[in-house]
Formats: sequence, structure tokens, C-alpha cells
Amino acid sequence: MITPIEGFSKLTKDQKIEWIAKNYTVNSEETIQIINRYWNSDDTLQKLHDEFIENTITNYYLPLGIAPNFLINNKLYAIPMAIEESSVVAAASKAAKFWLNRGGFKTSVINTEKVGQVHFMYHGAIAKLEKFFLDIKPILLEDTAILTKNMEKRGGGILAIELRNKTKSLEDYYQLHCTFETQDAMGANFINSCLEQLATTFKREFENSSLFTSSQEQLEVVMSILSNYVPNCLVKAEVSCPVSQLSDDKLITGEEFAKKMVRAVNIAKVEPYRAVTHNKGIMNGIDAVVLATGNDFRAVEAGIHAYAAKNGQYTSLTNASVENDIFKFSIDIPLALGTVGGLTSLHPLSKLALEILQKPSARELMQIVAVAGLAQNFAAVRSLVTTGIQQGHMKMHLMNILNQLGASETEKKALIHHFKSHTVTHSAVITEYEKLKNSDV
Ligand code: MEV
Repeated sequence: MITPIEGFSKLTKDQKIEWIAKNYTVNSEETIQIINRYWNSDDTLQKLHDEFIENTITNYYLPLGIAPNFLINNKLYAIPMAIEESSVVAAASKAAKFWLNRGGFKTSVINTEKVGQVHFMYHGAIAKLEKFFLDIKPILLEDTAILTKNMEKRGGGILAIELRNKTKSLEDYYQLHCTFETQDAMGANFINSCLEQLATTFKREFENSSLFTSSQEQLEVVMSILSNYVPNCLVKAEVSCPVSQLSDDKLITGEEFAKKMVRAVNIAKVEPYRAVTHNKGIMNGIDAVVLATGNDFRAVEAGIHAYAAKNGQYTSLTNASVENDIFKFSIDIPLALGTVGGLTSLHPLSKLALEILQKPSARELMQIVAVAGLAQNFAAVRSLVTTGIQQGHMKMHLMNILNQLGASETEKKALIHHFKSHTVTHSAVITEYEKLKNSDV
């Protein structure tokens, strides 16, 4: 029987591995072997990875791929993508190439405002709280000056502090709703430090204030934290071309293709079941670049999905239209990203990914990431409304199946050749593999 463990974090790495292997896996020797195989032989690098998180037992690799030929605002990029799903990098590359000959991607940053809130409960007259807030606002800023000094030198800082009355949603609930500019940093640490100081000052000033004389008047800070919902940290990416130039094969005309694309996007606009999958395809591109560049993909995911539901119904993040014979395909999404701080320079591969992207500012990275999302969606919807997704997907997935089966390099070559002209299904691959094996015997 497995019993709870005390002080797991204090064990050495080897002891942790031994414990997990013995208690939670069938073959502990094999477990230890797998774990060891994923260690980096470079001790310094391994130590760096060990120290990113707690209780590290080994490394978990994802492939890092490159999608070349992205023309963004007339500048060529090769985009690094960290992702495990086959087809995604191929689809991005295909979309990049398609738009390369049609003017490329045009992007713009609409705003870069980040958000953080001090959530508190206040019992008392609203007018008094409002007066108190106005009186102490200069003190709030004074007390955070030490924290904002460096950020201000870089052109950032606290943009505004607002008192928000949320008592209609929850009794006695108020916020200090704060906005920030964090330049090239994602800014989580900066924002949270500022918020915690604001909360401390707010509470201290409340306790010292002569405005609140009754013991019934109370203020309690609940929590101080940034918000990952950043609807005003917004970027737009767009592609467009004459409808007549939209088709690159003889199977479909530009008009037909445009019609199918617009219709598919409109379905995702009105139908949440479809919108979620449509947006998942967008996130295939976005997450892969966010991850490759050492940014927080969970924060980005949470913020983008909230944005997709901002009008009360979850909807498509992309738009497609035809106006005056011009096909337009665009996305606008909130993205809080950093190109300094966090993992960006600490993880050698994130650093390299940013170098490959020509050392972008956070604003530039927002644009590149938005393009990756738009390209991914274009490629996915294009396949869906023409050939269907499985044809391409299973071709790419073939290698995974062959690896699962333990096919040799020669067998892989023969089977890849065979499936150039046959439909890939899991069972068809197994049948062909077995046939090949038997013919070898
Ligand atoms: C698969 O990872 C993503 C798609 O389902 C996206 C879509 O349906 O638009 C193909």
C-alpha cells in the first residue's frame, strides 16, 4: 500500500526518483532508466533545468520546429514553434508560403495595457470610501515609487489606479483596479509587487484615517494579483488579397474558396461548439511560439479565451470577409508577452528562439504570435473546407504510428512510400507493417 510521504522535497534527486519508481511504477528499473535517459549530460545545463521548478526528476522534451517564410510587415521571419502535435508546423509553413506571394501578413499593436487588482471588502458608506481613496491616491503612488522607478526609466509604470465598486455583484466587494505599462517585460512580478504595496498602504492609511470613526466601518484586503485578462493589450494581424488570387490549385476557384472560408468562420462566430475547436486551432500556433519564446502559455490561453467570450457568448477569434472582391482574414487578440525577464533569457532555447526571431521587442513578439495564430487558423479551415483535415493529419501522424510500432528506418521508408498513394489509417499502417515484416522473414 502506498503511504503519504513527509519531506519529499528534502530528498535528493536520486532518492526522489527511487521513491517514485518504487511506489508508482510497475518496473522501477525501467522507470529509472527512462528518467536517466532524459537527463542532460551537460551538468550545468541540467542544474539550470532542475532549478526552474521544485522536485525535478528529469526533463520533459517537446520538439522545437521552424516554420519559415513568414512575411510580416515586409520583414521575413522563420518562426520557432515548440509543440508535440504533428501537422501544426507543416500547416503554419504552408500558410506562410501561401501568403508570401500575396503580400504577406500586416500587423499592428492596438494597445499594451496590463491589469492588476487589489480585491477588498469594505463595510461602510460608499461616499466616505470614495473620498478616502481620492485623499490617499498620492500616497499610494508615493509608496510604490521605489518599485516603479526602474520601469519608469524604461517608459513604463503604473498608468492608473481606479476605485471600483463591485457591490452589485458581491456584498461589500470593491477593487483597486490598476493598469500598467511594462514595456518588454511580461510584467507579472512588477505588477504583483506594486499591487501588494498598494494593498499595504491602502490598509495602513485606512487604519490611520480620521474619516472612519465607527467600529462598523471595516476594510479587509482579500488579495492582490495581476489579471491575465488583458483586453487592452491587443494586437491585430491580417491578410488580404483579390478573390481571384485566392486559389492555388485547379480544383477550386478563388470565389468558391472565399465563400467556403467566410462561411466556415461565420459558423464559428455563432456556434460555440465549433468556435472552441476553431480557436483551439489558433492556439496551436499561438501556444507553440509562446512556449518556444519562454512565455507563459497558460496566461495567454486564459486571457484569449476570456476575450473570445467578452460579449457574453464564446465566439471565433478570427474574422473573414469579402468586400469589393478582396478577401480579408484577420484576428485580434490580447497578448501579454515578454522578451526580457522570466525564462526568456534563462532558458537557452528560449533565448535562441528570440534570436531566431531577430530579438523582437514585446510589441513585435505580440505581432509575430498573432500571425502564427492567424496562419494556423487559415491552414486548418482551408483544409477543413476543401480536402478535410485527416488527409494531411494522418500523413504527418504516420511517423508517430511507425515509431510506436518500432519500425526500422528501411521499413519506415518503404511504408512512407506506400502511403503516398494510400489512405493512412491506424489499422492500415499496422496491416502494411505486418505484411512487410512477414515478407522480410
Ligand atoms: C486540431 O489540432 C485543430 C483543428 O481541429 C482546428 C479546427 O478545427 O479549426 C484542425
